[in-house]
Amino acid sequence: MIYQGNAVSVELLDDGIAELKFDLQGESVNKFNRATLEDLSKATEALKGNDQVKGIVVTSGKKVFIVGADITEFTEMFANDEAEIAKWSRQANDIFNAFEDLDVPKVAAINGFALGGGLEMCLACEFRVMGEAAQVGFPEVKLGIYPGFGGTVRTPRIIGVDNAVEWIATGSQNKADKALKVGIVDAVVKAGDERDAAIDLVKQCLAGKIDFRAKRQEKLDPLPMPPMEQMMAFQTGMAMVQQQAGKNYPAPVEAVKSMQKAAGMKRDDALDVESKGFAKLAKTQQATAMVGLFLADQQVKKVNGKTAKASREVKHAAVLGAGIMGGGIAFQSALKGTPIVMKDINDKALDLGMNEASKLLSKRVSKGKMDAAGMGKVLSAIRPTLSYEDFKDIDVIVEAVVENPKIKQSVLAETEEKVEGAILASNTSTISINRLAEALKKPENFAGMHFFNPVHMMPLVEVIRGEKTSDETVATLVNYAQKMGKNPVVVNDCPGFLVNRVLFPYFAGFSMLVRDGADFQQVDKVMQKFGWPMGPAYLLDVVGIDTGVHAAKVMAEGFPDRMDHDFKDPTEIMFENERYGQKNGIGFYKYEEDKKGKPKKVVDEKTYELIKPAVTSEPKDYDADEIIARMMIPMCTETVRCLEDNIVGSPAEADMAMIYGIGFPPFRGGPLRYIDSIGTQAFVELCDKYAHLGALYEAPQMLKDKAAKGESFFG
Ligand SMILES: NC(=O)c1ccc[n+]([C@@H]2O[C@H](COP(=O)([O-])OP(=O)(O)OC[C@H]3O[C@@H](n4cnc5c(N)ncnc54)[C@H](O)[C@@H]3O)[C@@H](O)[C@H]2O)c1
Repeated sequence: MIYQGNAVSVELLDDGIAELKFDLQGESVNKFNRATLEDLSKATEALKGNDQVKGIVVTSGKKVFIVGADITEFTEMFANDEAEIAKWSRQANDIFNAFEDLDVPKVAAINGFALGGGLEMCLACEFRVMGEAAQVGFPEVKLGIYPGFGGTVRTPRIIGVDNAVEWIATGSQNKADKALKVGIVDAVVKAGDERDAAIDLVKQCLAGKIDFRAKRQEKLDPLPMPPMEQMMAFQTGMAMVQQQAGKNYPAPVEAVKSMQKAAGMKRDDALDVESKGFAKLAKTQQATAMVGLFLADQQVKKVNGKTAKASREVKHAAVLGAGIMGGGIAFQSALKGTPIVMKDINDKALDLGMNEASKLLSKRVSKGKMDAAGMGKVLSAIRPTLSYEDFKDIDVIVEAVVENPKIKQSVLAETEEKVEGAILASNTSTISINRLAEALKKPENFAGMHFFNPVHMMPLVEVIRGEKTSDETVATLVNYAQKMGKNPVVVNDCPGFLVNRVLFPYFAGFSMLVRDGADFQQVDKVMQKFGWPMGPAYLLDVVGIDTGVHAAKVMAEGFPDRMDHDFKDPTEIMFENERYGQKNGIGFYKYEEDKKGKPKKVVDEKTYELIKPAVTSEPKDYDADEIIARMMIPMCTETVRCLEDNIVGSPAEADMAMIYGIGFPPFRGGPLRYIDSIGTQAFVELCDKYAHLGALYEAPQMLKDKAAKGESFFG
């Protein structure tokens, strides 16, 4: 044994070939934490001083190669100042350089995921052999940063500018065939053969058949590209990246800038550029939010994992109602491997439900994501029926019939009679779970399971715990949601549950802005620029004006002190004029079909005429900051109230629910992270400034307390 550390070991094999193996003790995967970096440094030192070593293979003792940096260490590290972060990245690069500079052939055997720092480790070798099931890529931009262990320097020198820009700026994860095609790996072999193939490649180098030094030199030199060509390549890359990333995501653009700036430099100078750019990005609000988001996601998964432990096994499911939601739930359940019975009272609805599933599957087949046999299998896992006869051995039943409390109560009670012992869930969006439970003999077996439309696209499921819901019921629904590939968040019962309770105050903010003379289109534009997938008027059209008006009424009844209003609401005017939004082609906007048959929004001047009664002030040109404050304060304060009222268990769950449920801008991290980014004290002051607009703008006690203590939601 040449070296034995906690994460890295080096052993001399036959023929002078050393195996440097990553195997982080006490963890299921390898990652580049501080200790691993130190280990790599010491292992390199040991290799340097050992003249028996003629070549090196780099392997992993885990199923993955190395999944990347240890993101849990980022929060602390990124709290340092920019110079300190740049120094850390540069020191890490010195370790990789020392390894790269070992004057023997080095080959990485990529047996599983080699992502971020994991792939950068492979690039420090002269050659890479990849297993056919492995995947490689640079996901750093998804955390608001870019590769900081030499990735922006070595990648363009190995695979060229165009490919490097694509790989680094998109953060894509790539399969072996693509990796081989661009040349980021040199060979693809059968899974399990990576190590042998890597040893074989080292031997070929030692036999003089391959010039490994020339290969290394390419990585040490400036890019071998004439300046004109270089400029063209980077300009094209930059244009593509700017268009795709948009202004709110600086990391991909910064990555291209750094690669361009360092293109004419030798390795060490180029790495200085990389480290400085990395540190600059690490200090952005986007990096803080996106690293926080990653950690919040892990926390939510951990909470769910714990909750789901008490789950019953879910082998067979059923859904009541084959409409938009029922059909979607059936499709998703079958697609992810839980066969499902789909019951309706209407034959035609069953046909529509099956046709919708069939259409979605055909799309997958035409995109090459599934073959015809796979499609047949999924379709046959959905059993349409008009009768309870088919409800044998069903573990979970999701009710998705029309949104009417009486009908829902009677359907649930009838189902409970027919199917003894199964877990029952309602997909209601506005009816109290406690109220629905009153119709049941065993309310402990009942909870809410709120999916979002379209079910196959939307990642969130709210699991709503009623007063009498048992832990086993919650656990089973969390488990079933996960089996369906969704991200469940468990919440307690209240009007609007979590997501709608927080969304409707935002819509109220919109109505008040229009009342006070704002142009609804300007509000849409500002909020879209802020990062929302669409502005509030457009979102109301997409949700359905009728649905919105109904839900707003429920919210006003539930929280009259702040969600009731005494003015004419523009959304209600749309409703009174039968402008239901996208579903009937007209709402705040008009909808025309584009070439692909998708609805395209166009401006309708008549909207301004119609909403005049809702506007009680002179038209006013609001500046963007005021629009943002008036829209975001009600949403953020209501999220705090949900935490205060124990509707949701933690800030991480609250923020993730808003990102997964309604597309809260991910780079802002969620409503609570957004408050943190402004500062709790500054946010209280912002609330005070607008408190004259009503109770939705008042700072909740929890926020005031945090501000007084100088605390934030995420510490
Ligand atoms: N559409 C959405 O965006 C959305 C989002 C989240 C939740 N929801 C909720 O999901 C539920 C269903 O909504 P939808 O949009 O799918 O409605 P929908 O009108 O498209 O479908 C309802 C279906 O239920 C069937 N049905 C009625 N009574 C039945 C019974 N006794 N047994 C079996 N089937 C019966 C109807 O025939 C119809 O096919 C509602 O509670 C709604 O609030 C809807």
